[in-house]
Amino acid sequence: TKRYSITLLPGDGIGPEVISVAKNVLKLAGSLEGFLSFPFPVFPLFRIEFSFQEMPMGGAALDLTGVPLPEETLSAAQRADAVLLGAIGGYKWDKNEKHLKPETGLLQLREGLKVFANLRPATVLPQLVDSSTLKKDVAEGVDLMVVRELTGGIYFGKPRGFGTNEKGEDIGFNTEVYSTHEIDRIARVAFEIARKRRGQLCSVDKANVLEASMLWRKRVTAIASEYPDVELSHMYVDNAAMQLVRYPKQFDTIVTNNIFGDILSDEASMITGSIGMLPSASLGESGPGLFEPIHGSAPDIAGQDKANPLATILSAAMLLKYGLGEANAANRIENAVLDTLNRGFRTGDIYSTGNKLVGCKEMGEEVLKSVDSPVPTA
Ligand code: NAD
Ligand code: IPM
Ligand code: MN
Repeated sequence: TKRYSITLLPGDGIGPEVISVAKNVLKLAGSLEGFLSFPFPVFPLFRIEFSFQEMPMGGAALDLTGVPLPEETLSAAQRADAVLLGAIGGYKWDKNEKHLKPETGLLQLREGLKVFANLRPATVLPQLVDSSTLKKDVAEGVDLMVVRELTGGIYFGKPRGFGTNEKGEDIGFNTEVYSTHEIDRIARVAFEIARKRRGQLCSVDKANVLEASMLWRKRVTAIASEYPDVELSHMYVDNAAMQLVRYPKQFDTIVTNNIFGDILSDEASMITGSIGMLPSASLGESGPGLFEPIHGSAPDIAGQDKANPLATILSAAMLLKYGLGEANAANRIENAVLDTLNRGFRTGDIYSTGNKLVGCKEMGEEVLKSVDSPVPTA
């Protein structure tokens, strides 16, 4: 039996709802690994067992301890084999000072785990083509990966803050800054990913205006010489936002900075049907990865059992694949999601007529059934 320790950070809003579902899916998928079944009696050889440690984070941690990322939470995350996060944030804490915002805790967590590479795949599943707001022929077959730089750029750049200008007016200011080594390392991650996909990398920047983007383009171009098998192109972010809804199939792998990646991945999610479908993996050079859906705490539907848990379930699959190297268990979960969709189950965000409308919990139960008895899927 293989044992992994997972730190669970349910967070706020729909976070706890989707995490409790994903936890059960992980448990079951792990317990089904490594069975030697034929011609011998069924006997678990390399079963995966998880020890889950749930820690407070975000608004929940603020209410409990006064800070959005308690030291105990960060150190538990750092010691774990992988970290699975629900979502953080909510109206209640929106007016908090910067250092007491749930969002600040999330940035501290990403920084504390040094997870600079955020992988956000957006795949249009054949089962969900009708859920996309784009026309069928535009959406179908889309399969792209946004590689978002996660621990630099305007989210972390200094100087930042509030002040007063010459006219005595209040100002708020931030700095978009990237260093060579920050760009080089995210570029290498993106080239490696593109190499294993369809060999096309599109770097998205604003090099016609921003110095940080000018250096970005120069360094990505330089790193390209290490990857002659990958075809590199560059695109301005405004055009990229437009191209994503015009003809998204042109994209294979996209590499971009922290803020552009945040925005473009939410845009890309809608091509697939819903933001409730998109998982992510955040990885560093070493240490545990952080896995989370790209959506937020969805305060508008929190506590109503309406959230789509599939983004978090698919994040758990990314945890197995990228965080633990357990590709087989990851595939088991991905297939179970496809099977559940094939059987017609849909949460409200991906519902279309003729399907079975279910809540978060029931969707989770159906996925568990599919994990347990995988049916061949298309
Ligand atoms: P959001 O992603 O929470 O919600 C946007 C819309 O998408 C809402 O209508 C919501 O109901 C819907 N939605 C999101 N996830 C869904 C799911 N799984 N199933 C069904 N519908 C879903 O973004 P927002 O409203 O801009 O932000 C709400 C809060 O979440 C804010 O406090 C924000 O800072 C925070 N946030 C946190 C994260 C994170 O924890 N990683 C990410 C984004 C936003
Ligand atoms: C995300 C979120 C976060 C981000 C916020 C909540 C800090 O939007 O994970 O996409 O901007 O990175
Ligand atoms: Mn976001």
